[in-house]
Amino acid sequence: MRKITFLFILIYISCTAQETQTKPTGLVATKAMVVSAREEASKIGVEIMKKGGNAFDAMVGTELALAVSFPFAGNIGGGGFMVYRKANGEVGSLDYREKAPLAATKDMFLDKDGNVIKGKSTETALAIGVPGTVAGVFAVHKKLGSLPMSKILKLVIELAEKGVVVTKKQENNLNNYREAIVKINGSTTLLASNFKEKDTIKYPALASTLKRILKNGRNEFYKGETAKILVDYLQKKGGIITLKDLAKYEAKWRKPLQFNYKDLKITSMSPPSSGGICLAQILKMLEPYDLSKMGHNTDQSIQIIVEAERRAYADRSTFLGDPDFVKIPIKGLLSDAYLKDRMSTFNPEKASLSSEIKEGKITYNESTETTHYSIVDQFGNAVAATTTLNDGYGSKYYCDELGFFLNNEMDDFSAKPGSPNMFGLVGNEANSIAPQKRMLSSMTPTIIEKNGKLFMVVGTPGGSTIITSVLQTILNVYEYKFSMQDAVNAPRFHHQWLPDLVTFEPNTFDNSTIDRLKAKGYLISEKTTPVIGKVDAILILPNNKMEGGADFRGDDKAVGF
Ligand code: DON
Repeated sequence: MRKITFLFILIYISCTAQETQTKPTGLVATKAMVVSAREEASKIGVEIMKKGGNAFDAMVGTELALAVSFPFAGNIGGGGFMVYRKANGEVGSLDYREKAPLAATKDMFLDKDGNVIKGKSTETALAIGVPGTVAGVFAVHKKLGSLPMSKILKLVIELAEKGVVVTKKQENNLNNYREAIVKINGSTTLLASNFKEKDTIKYPALASTLKRILKNGRNEFYKGETAKILVDYLQKKGGIITLKDLAKYEAKWRKPLQFNYKDLKITSMSPPSSGGICLAQILKMLEPYDLSKMGHNTDQSIQIIVEAERRAYADRSTFLGDPDFVKIPIKGLLSDAYLKDRMSTFNPEKASLSSEIKEGKITYNESTETTHYSIVDQFGNAVAATTTLNDGYGSKYYCDELGFFLNNEMDDFSAKPGSPNMFGLVGNEANSIAPQKRMLSSMTPTIIEKNGKLFMVVGTPGGSTIITSVLQTILNVYEYKFSMQDAVNAPRFHHQWLPDLVTFEPNTFDNSTIDRLKAKGYLISEKTTPVIGKVDAILILPNNKMEGGADFRGDDKAVGF
């Protein structure tokens, strides 16, 4: 009898769980999955796991396959951040962010009157930070990988030699950027050709670079022939990166930022990315409000989210920078009392003005075009990694001999206090330029646990909109019960304190919603807005299968088995 009652209860629980479970609308896999900006890269990650490799082997393969198949943002001339959660619950993160060269100076982008010289931090060889990606993948492999590096690299080299088929979106993108690429590299550079959809682009120079890396290891990039060719190229172009800069570069394991939102335990990137701290501040400021009752993308829910974003981005501007150089009051910024006080000026009837919201008062009492991919392996390990060249094709400087683009990450520093960078973000002393310092990032690779179990892996490109896109994806799943794919598809909005404007994806929000926000004093960006984020995420379903959310805004693809 007791057995039968127990069985009844079990059946009842599983039925109600089925009821509350949102039907997946994205790819569902049983064992392992990679969601990335290109099908070719997702497939290589999955192939590695099918061969018995783990999520970390797949991370190395996917990251480098994106450098081949998605030169817009995938890279070995840039850097990124990786957050992981092992099957046993252990978490960690790797900072392979670019660094300012030794010869960098605080005023290097200013004229003699102290004004920012337009384009100097984005379109010149001085915009290039010391790349971290190769150091990053080797560090991950050394600490957490299981397959031989040669097995992983061979797949990527094969892809570079075989070539990658151009998609319609890529054809359009190459058309948009061709002039800028040719202006810097001349008309004989690889991407100067008028590639069309269905053409195959082969990457022989990149394949040779990767072969040398396969033969000589990570030091090939930082101390070997590749380093010499790179420095020679950069110096001819007026850059300041030296062999010493490359030799000194190290990726850094950092303690990730962890916090709770209701019954979710969220692990995200700590500084030098602002992602984790800003995400935590915003979610904690939102926690007391009943967002699900307010409804998805209603004027009420948009309003409260905007007000939390405004306050978090104001703090970002003052307090955040490279923790190896500046003291960041993390405890203070995340304290419940501080965040409650921060929202005390919120008035549901009326927009706050960014001109009246400054950074909060924190006492220092304690001893920042991109691509994201999410991976879950058959052992239960999870990886969230976001990597970037900053702008599309970075600085556009492409070393023909080595076959890759270089970043323009130096623009993520604050060239002058209060002067906006290319994402309109303003910064201060904490993010000023100094030799060897890492520029503040917004990249937010994030892993979420619920009831002690892996729940979601999420992240996105999008400059300053990264944090708010990750935030909305989490809220869409958790508060609004969207499937992973629907959560990624849903229209997004953004506010970053300055400029004091709410930005909406074009033609996706009700005019009446926008009119109600205007009536309360919200300043709405009327410009057609580019895409806000391009999220790639994985959700673990109640039956332990996984659903991919691959952003339709790009060529992104979930692959799994
Ligand atoms: O690290 C950052 O925050 C920026 N460099 C990211 C750039 C980016 O996401 C551009 N993509 N749309």
